[in-house]
Amino acid sequence: MKLAFIGGGNMATAILGGLMAKGFRGADAVVAEIDAAARARLASELGVSTVEAPGAEMARVDVIVLAVKPQNMREVAKSLAPHLSKQLVVSIAAGIRIADLTRWLGGHSRIVRAMPNTPALVQAGITGLYATDAVTLSDREKVNELLAAIGATVWLDSEGDIDIVTAISGSGPAYVFYVMEALEAAAKDLGLAPDKARTLALWTFAGGAKLAAERGLDPAVLRAQVTSKGGTTQAAISVLDAAQVKAMFVAAIKAAHTRSQQLGDEFGKDPQS
Ligand SMILES: NC(=O)c1ccc[n+]([C@@H]2O[C@H](COP(=O)([O-])OP(=O)(O)OC[C@H]3O[C@@H](n4cnc5c(N)ncnc54)[C@H](OP(=O)(O)O)[C@@H]3O)[C@@H](O)[C@H]2O)c1
Repeated sequence: MKLAFIGGGNMATAILGGLMAKGFRGADAVVAEIDAAARARLASELGVSTVEAPGAEMARVDVIVLAVKPQNMREVAKSLAPHLSKQLVVSIAAGIRIADLTRWLGGHSRIVRAMPNTPALVQAGITGLYATDAVTLSDREKVNELLAAIGATVWLDSEGDIDIVTAISGSGPAYVFYVMEALEAAAKDLGLAPDKARTLALWTFAGGAKLAAERGLDPAVLRAQVTSKGGTTQAAISVLDAAQVKAMFVAAIKAAHTRSQQLGDEFGKDPQS
């Protein structure tokens, strides 16, 4: 598979790094990156070829990954449009809808929209994917291969579900860090040294997630298993329930979902509209 990336920042580097760890050759990728220092880093660290802007080399690749910030996407897509024919385009930009991308790409419709999250940077991401009808089964397999480099994948039935993915797993690492902050703060308040508080918070999350993944049980069951009547965990959960913390989390995630829909509207506007 010959690959091109438009934008050679964090996500492009993470995907390429993950692919290379599985045997992909840097020589099979070209990265269009506007920043000269970033181009030099990509060429020396990953051995990919680099260009300042997309050009004739795009005709020789199978898959083009759009990995620039959403606010740069319109301009980037328009510069790519003249070089498109049959290539599969994968956009990882948050909030950019396929209809807007298709319009900016001059009508190109063989597009997969992907919503990864920051743990992708350490190959532990989860990416939600949505494909247009023009995307074949073998295209989907290529996308799976590509994004398996940064973690797990979930295919979605409707593009609107991408806004749910954004609210759950896209913003989700921040919810995890938020609870970690609370665990650390409590440990320190109770007299533990900061480094020990950090270690406890970190491993509690890592261990909880591993246990849930490996046992495959409902989180409510796992929670019941550590909540004995009259015990310490029940004392803590009673405080959380009284403050309706779970309902507040659901409300918070719905706010993220609404904001994701609004950002999609904003990013999709053309200057004259
Ligand atoms: N990071 C994440 O975990 C994450 C999660 C979900 C989705 N995403 C999406 O992934 C996309 C990339 O994120 P990122 O974190 O990798 O961003 P990033 O590190 O800022 O990378 C984007 C790169 O593209 C370059 N660029 C800007 N305009 C360009 C152009 N016209 N042609 C070529 N290159 C251009 C930027 O250069 P300059 O810095 O000079 O502008 C930068 O090096 C974003 O759309 C984001 O929404 C990221």
